[in-house]
Amino acid sequence: MGSFSSRACAEINVSTPETKVTENFSRVVSHSAQNGGKGSSQRKFFKQYGPFLRMPNIGDIFPNFRAKTTEGEIDFYDWLGNSWGILFSHPGDFTPVCTSELGKAAELAPEFKRRGIKIIGLSCSSTREHEAWIPDILAYTGIKGPMPFPIISDEKRELAVGLGMLDPEFKDDKGMPMTCRALFIIGPDKKMKMSILYPALSGRNFSEILRVVDSLQLTDVKKVSTPVDWKYGEACMVDVSVPRVHEDHLFPKGVTVTELPSGKDYFRTTPMP
Ligand code: BEZ
Repeated sequence: MGSFSSRACAEINVSTPETKVTENFSRVVSHSAQNGGKGSSQRKFFKQYGPFLRMPNIGDIFPNFRAKTTEGEIDFYDWLGNSWGILFSHPGDFTPVCTSELGKAAELAPEFKRRGIKIIGLSCSSTREHEAWIPDILAYTGIKGPMPFPIISDEKRELAVGLGMLDPEFKDDKGMPMTCRALFIIGPDKKMKMSILYPALSGRNFSEILRVVDSLQLTDVKKVSTPVDWKYGEACMVDVSVPRVHEDHLFPKGVTVTELPSGKDYFRTTPMP
């Protein structure tokens, strides 16, 4: 379960430095080695997952995988379909920060849906633990009804290792490294559009995730960029690739150029198109 498919292997061309791969790999297998793991199974694991032992970068095709979830077994690409997607990990079930984060994600589920985004959580706990934990999440948030998104159970830590999500400093009560708070936004083209990586003790800001989704979806289709602290509906910057002669045609609501000491005319704003 939680294994990368050969389809993904064929599609991704990763040039990961061998040393980094070995370092990440050895972190994870050292525990299993200490616990009776066989060298040959380590080699098999390395052969299969070696190319993925790092976090995907912006622009990479996000690897496909199969996984057990609270909504049954999934093929990630099939589950995504043509939607945008967010995969986010948390260190463990029945922990306070994680409960608050998944509660917030559940509360914001209608907002993600409105933007055509499917969300899915992940930790190394079992589906049975996830299922037992969900009532706490819903009670904390005050949401009635089923959990609005699935949670992956990555018990063997295959996805955690393959996607570079383990925090070697943070271990569970069995001495196994836990997943940190990674979050990936994946476009309908299966390319990674944005990622963040937070440590176990610092919860993420899901309003910021929605804000950046708005920016990603807007800048995907319009020739604009979004400035610091931008929010949906506010003025945007004209993309630097747009020649001045095309401004009137592309931005009928008008373009304002801010004068700067350099005398250059790159700081162009326009109402959100
Ligand atoms: C928490 O969610 O509160 C948490 C998770 C892992 C380690 C410590 C705290």
